[in-house]
Amino acid sequence: MSVVPIPSDGKITVPKLLQRKQAADPGKKIEKITCLTAYDYPTSRLLDEAGVDVLLVGDSLAMVVLGHESTLPVTIDEMLHHTRAVRRGTKRALIVADMPYGTYHGDLAESVRNAVRFVKEGGAEAVKIEGGERRLELIARLTEAEIPVMGHVGLTPQSVNALGGYKVQGKTPNAAEQVLRDARAVEAAGAFAVVLEALPRELAAQITQDLRIPTIGIGAGPDCDGQILVIHDVLGLTFGPPPKFARQYANIGEQIRHAAQEYCADVQSGAFPSDAESYHGQAAVIRKRKPISIVEC
Ligand code: KIV
Repeated sequence: MSVVPIPSDGKITVPKLLQRKQAADPGKKIEKITCLTAYDYPTSRLLDEAGVDVLLVGDSLAMVVLGHESTLPVTIDEMLHHTRAVRRGTKRALIVADMPYGTYHGDLAESVRNAVRFVKEGGAEAVKIEGGERRLELIARLTEAEIPVMGHVGLTPQSVNALGGYKVQGKTPNAAEQVLRDARAVEAAGAFAVVLEALPRELAAQITQDLRIPTIGIGAGPDCDGQILVIHDVLGLTFGPPPKFARQYANIGEQIRHAAQEYCADVQSGAFPSDAESYHGQAAVIRKRKPISIVEC
């Protein structure tokens, strides 16, 4: 199955995002790139209509939608299923799909085939892969295959076991140097943007100054070229305490809880459904002992 993006005025494209940074006069602020995660049709449609530039079908899907403890278990088929839903809800935003853990960690040819699936079957316009210097060759191969790549350095959640937890990265001079090398490698390999996750603000600012491609921060301070958050954190749809860097703009979780409680109470009391919420018709007895047939008006 193939899914074709629906053209619309003002469509966000990879060259347009690059241009935002590269065409900005030195020392002048660029028009920031707004990114949010999305995993389904109604949310992507609402975010797209609100003017968000980039929708990331993040592998955070594993945690915030599917209830796993980390991003590691989500499969390529699950990611594709949600990418297709986001495709159907989106006209203007650029859709980036996260390649899940295990789909780009082995053979290069197989990694390219997996990325192609996101474009052909999911309707994604770019893929995101985690890791810096060690992804150089893969990013170059994907770029050669006409698949735009968004890099992701700093805290890479798929490395949770190797890192020993979700910790701020680049805090020592050596660690900061490594993150800078990773970001430069991602750019050199051909990525069109890079996510900087959980980094000291000063380091993210330095990387942003250093690179020609846009940086998209999450927990990396305000000096990045754009920002991304997980939509469930933004809407108050998570269950634990939110991360320090996430700002909650609505409390939809509480609204859902209240709505469900009110619905249950109305059903129990008979207040729902009302007469106006019912269909009406003439009940006619066709024959003795046969069921009543309802004629809708
Ligand atoms: O999966 C995800 O949601 C992400 C963003 C937080 C950058 O990778």
